[in-house]
Amino acid sequence: MIKLARTIQDLPHSPTLWANDLVHQKRGEGETVYHMGFGESPFPVPERLKKALAAAAHRKEYLKADGLNELVDAVREYYRPIYGDAYIDATDVIVAPGSKLILYALQMAVEGDLLMPVPSWVSYGPQARMLHTDVIKVPTILDDAGYHIDPDVLRDVIRAARAAGKNPSKIILNAPNNPTGLTIPSDELPALAAVCEEEGVLIISDEIYGVLSFDGQYRSCAPCAPNVTAVTTGLSKHLSLGGWRIGIGFIPKGVDGLNNALRCIVSETWSCVSSPVQAACVEAYKRHPDIEAHIQACTDIHALMNRTVAAELRALGVIAPTPQGAFYNYPDFAPFRDALAANGIRTSQDIHEVLLDQYNLATLPGHAFGADNDVLTLRLSSCDYDGAVALAAYQSGETLDRAFIEKYAPHVLESVNVFARFLDRYAKP
Ligand SMILES: Cc1ncc(COP(=O)(O)O)c(C=O)c1O
Repeated sequence: MIKLARTIQDLPHSPTLWANDLVHQKRGEGETVYHMGFGESPFPVPERLKKALAAAAHRKEYLKADGLNELVDAVREYYRPIYGDAYIDATDVIVAPGSKLILYALQMAVEGDLLMPVPSWVSYGPQARMLHTDVIKVPTILDDAGYHIDPDVLRDVIRAARAAGKNPSKIILNAPNNPTGLTIPSDELPALAAVCEEEGVLIISDEIYGVLSFDGQYRSCAPCAPNVTAVTTGLSKHLSLGGWRIGIGFIPKGVDGLNNALRCIVSETWSCVSSPVQAACVEAYKRHPDIEAHIQACTDIHALMNRTVAAELRALGVIAPTPQGAFYNYPDFAPFRDALAANGIRTSQDIHEVLLDQYNLATLPGHAFGADNDVLTLRLSSCDYDGAVALAAYQSGETLDRAFIEKYAPHVLESVNVFARFLDRYAKP
C-alpha cells in the first residue's frame, strides 16, 4: 500500500484557499455570498506592466537561480532609501515564485523551531510542520496603536522553550499584519531585534504588505539588525499581482551559508521564476510616477474600506482596532461571550460556521491564525468588489467616503449588516 508522508497526512488545506473555493462553488450555484474570507487585492494590472509583460513574451530562457540581474538591481535600488545602504549592502537578493516559497525555503534552511507571534498568517505554522519542526507561540497585544510584542516576553518564551528542550532559532514578524491589519510600531522594533540578535534567532520579516501602509510610512526591522534579518516581500499585495507569482527575498550575508543554502534549494526545486514575468516586473521597481500613483490610489481605497469596517463593527460593540495597513480586520467578539455561549456559540469556528451557513458570509476563524479555540476572533478581508470600477471612479475624482462604498463595494457594507443581524439574533443578553 502506498502511504502518505506523516507530516502531510494531517495537514489541512490552506483555510484561505478553501474559503475561496467554497465561495466560488456557492456563487456558481447562483447564491449571493458575501466574501470576507480571501485576501486578494481586486485592482487591475497597470497598463505599463501589461505592456512590459507583452514585450517580454518572447523570452523563454531559464534564468539564473537568484533572479534576472536587471530585476535584482531594480529591487535593491527601490528598497535602498527604505532600508538604508547598510542593510542593502549586508544582504543578497533572491527572486522566487511568490514570497511564500521564500518563507518556506528560509524555514527549511535554518535548523530549529519557529517562534510564531499569535495571531499570524495561516501558512507559517503548516510550513514549519511540513519541515518537521515545532511552532512556539509568542503572545501579542493588539490595539489602536498597533501589533505589539513585548521584548521581555519574547526573551522569556525563547529561554523557556530552550529549557524545555526545543530549539527556537527563527521568528517571523509580519507588519502590516495578516490577519490584523495592524503594524508593529517603529519605536518597538529595535528592542525586538536586539532580543533576537542576542539570542541568536533569525528574524524573517514578512513585509509583503510593507508598501500598503495607510499612513505612507514603511516600517521595517531590517535596519535594526541587518546581520540577522531576512526580508520577504513582492508585488502580490500593493500591486495586486498575486497570480504573477513574484516574490523577493533579502538574505543576510551575516548568517554563514544561508545564501548558498537558499540557492541550492532554488536550483533543486523551482529553478527560476518565469522569465517574461521577471522582465516585466523590473518596471514595477522603477518608481514610475504612473505606477506610484496607482499604488497610492489602491492604498487609499483599501484604507477607506478597512477603516470603515472597523468603525462600523465598533459601533456594534465589537472590539475592532483600526487597521493601519493591508486589507484586513480582526474583530474580537469577546464582549458577547456569555450571550453567544447561551446560543451554543463558543469558538471562533462556531461564529465562522453560523455566519457561513445562515448568512452566506465567508470569514476565517481566529484559530486558523494560531489563536486558541475559545478566542472569539475572525479575520475579515474587505476585497469583495470590482477593483477596476472602484479605481476608475476614484481616479475620475469621486470622493472616498461611505457613499463611495455603498456605490462601488456594496458587499462590504452588506457584510457589516450581516454582523448586526447576527449579533441581534445570537448576542442579545
Ligand atoms: C502575510 C502573508 N505573507 C505572505 C504571503 C504570500 O504572498 P505571495 O506568495 O503571493 O508573495 C501572503 C499572501 O496571502 C500573506 O498574507
